[in-house]
Amino acid sequence: MCGIVGYIGARNTLAVLIKGLESLEYRGYDSAGVSFIQNGNLNVIKKKGKVKELYKAIDEQGYDLSLKGKNSISAGIGHTRWATHGAPSDENSHPHLSMGGKICVVHNGIIENYVELRKFLKKKGYEFSSDTDTEVAAQLIEYYYKKFDCKDFEGAVQRALQDIVGSYALCILCVDYPDKIICAKKDNPIVIGLGQNENFIASDIPALIEYTRDVVFMEDNCILIMTKDSIEIKDVHGEVVDYEVSHVDWDTDAAQKGGYAHFMMKEMFEEPKAFEATVAPRIKDDVIWLEHFPCGRDYLSGIDKINIVACGTAYHAGCVGKYLIEKLCRIPVTCTVASEFIYSDPIIDERTLTIVISQSGETLDTRNAMREAQNRGSRTLAIVNVIGSTIAREADYVLYTAAGPEISVASTKAYTTQLACVYLLAIKFSYELGKIDDDRYKQLQSELLQMPEKLTKILSEQNKIQRFASSQFNAESIFFIGRGLDYYLSMEASLKLKEISYIHSEAYAGGELKHGTIALIEDGTLVVSPITQDELCGKMESNIKEVKTRGATVLAIIPERFADKGFSCDEKFVIPDCDELLTPILTALPAQLFAYYMAVNKGCDIDKPRNLAKSVTVE
Ligand code: F6R
Repeated sequence: MCGIVGYIGARNTLAVLIKGLESLEYRGYDSAGVSFIQNGNLNVIKKKGKVKELYKAIDEQGYDLSLKGKNSISAGIGHTRWATHGAPSDENSHPHLSMGGKICVVHNGIIENYVELRKFLKKKGYEFSSDTDTEVAAQLIEYYYKKFDCKDFEGAVQRALQDIVGSYALCILCVDYPDKIICAKKDNPIVIGLGQNENFIASDIPALIEYTRDVVFMEDNCILIMTKDSIEIKDVHGEVVDYEVSHVDWDTDAAQKGGYAHFMMKEMFEEPKAFEATVAPRIKDDVIWLEHFPCGRDYLSGIDKINIVACGTAYHAGCVGKYLIEKLCRIPVTCTVASEFIYSDPIIDERTLTIVISQSGETLDTRNAMREAQNRGSRTLAIVNVIGSTIAREADYVLYTAAGPEISVASTKAYTTQLACVYLLAIKFSYELGKIDDDRYKQLQSELLQMPEKLTKILSEQNKIQRFASSQFNAESIFFIGRGLDYYLSMEASLKLKEISYIHSEAYAGGELKHGTIALIEDGTLVVSPITQDELCGKMESNIKEVKTRGATVLAIIPERFADKGFSCDEKFVIPDCDELLTPILTALPAQLFAYYMAVNKGCDIDKPRNLAKSVTVE
């Protein structure tokens, strides 16, 4: 989704902004722009297309874009836009300049009452040059700025915010204050990076870590007044509020490709390390420790049901969580897509634990679902990757996945580490509730600890998947079929394939296919089937026969112990054996590799698939 950067200091402002925008490219966008004050004017340079188009446009205007270059500009703001209101175009790109040239704004989020505000401003003589909701913010702030005799930038922002309904991370320049940036935040993230005689703003950490590790996560309904050597945060009444400085320990390498062709490939190769970092520190002396989360028998006796909410890939991790918790703990669990949960009038109360899963910790649908659950009295536990993100801060407890920064839009290592957390939770709950004995508790811990080695083995055999994908990438439609845990894995495998290769795909429960969808199977249709559950493999063999009879080509993903079972498939990919409850951790990686190589063969933009955004902060 849209990205924001801002800078004040002695470095070459334009170079810092461009570099920052490049590091946010992974979020998904269709245009980019910058604004800065020079010789008493607010300048805007913006372009439809990629940051390199913007770079060219700035360069053509004679600006130095080297990081070591001279800075004659102190404050600047920049933006990558993912179109919502108005098509991708130069005019609709941010920053947006007010009609009188006093105020310039970049914005993430949606101004819901922009139609009324636009009408109001038009009556006051304002003309608009874009179709965006954001331009309204620039004009409205200028309107109040002029009303206050062009003397109170901060007051004009505060006043305009009283009229704006919606969600925003706003970053604002005023031509009369060349050494100041003001930001406002509601429901969209803003991170402040603190430096020596310089300060930074970004919508996401990767834009900052090259310069500073000391960051402040802004709270909702606050405004920030930033100069090169000070930051002040105020609430809606103009009262100064305290803030906490967090230290980010991600290394800069984590946000670089490090020799891999794509971030997605690098991140799949990081799965063994990420899984280990999520699990190993939480297992000590045969006991699972979940930081401050008090999940002992007392806590669990206060819970009648568990409710899991999440979106996309995180939702698929939640589905595995539902299966596990029900199986191991015998507690009823619902797992609901966050955007549906909010309107489902859910039956939850203070005896419900809501588990919220999110890589970014900023997904608006997921945040809203968590708030809905909290309003109904539910306890909350967040499984989140980005430290200090909104969901992490607003949940009662948080379990961090230690995946490190995930740059590729297609989630891979975040999913595997989300699974790591749901396994830790399910096993811990089960033991605390007396549903498994000491031996099973230890055995499951030991299985978890062996996963990094098994993931490494799968990676060492990835060329088999590469070969298979290069013979299949012209497929027009692919079906993933599985039963039980393999069905949930199929859902994730299908999503991964769709989002990066643009091949139509569906995930079906093995037994459900014959109730309609099998009509779509014809000569040459590719069917991929994870088969890992002892009890279900006979039934899956029947389902494979059903599709083979109708001409399908079948790839099965199976554990070593099924290698001699003689399934009627055309190809097999064999994963290491493990306790069958844990197989999704291992089947996910071949499914991700398959999606990756299909997309590479088709020449797709792997890390920035069309129409998608990394962090989805609109409903
Ligand atoms: C798919 C993918 C998305 C996200 C979803 C939720 O690869 O990444 O489906 O899983 O948008 O995002 P988070 O986990 O940040 O809440």
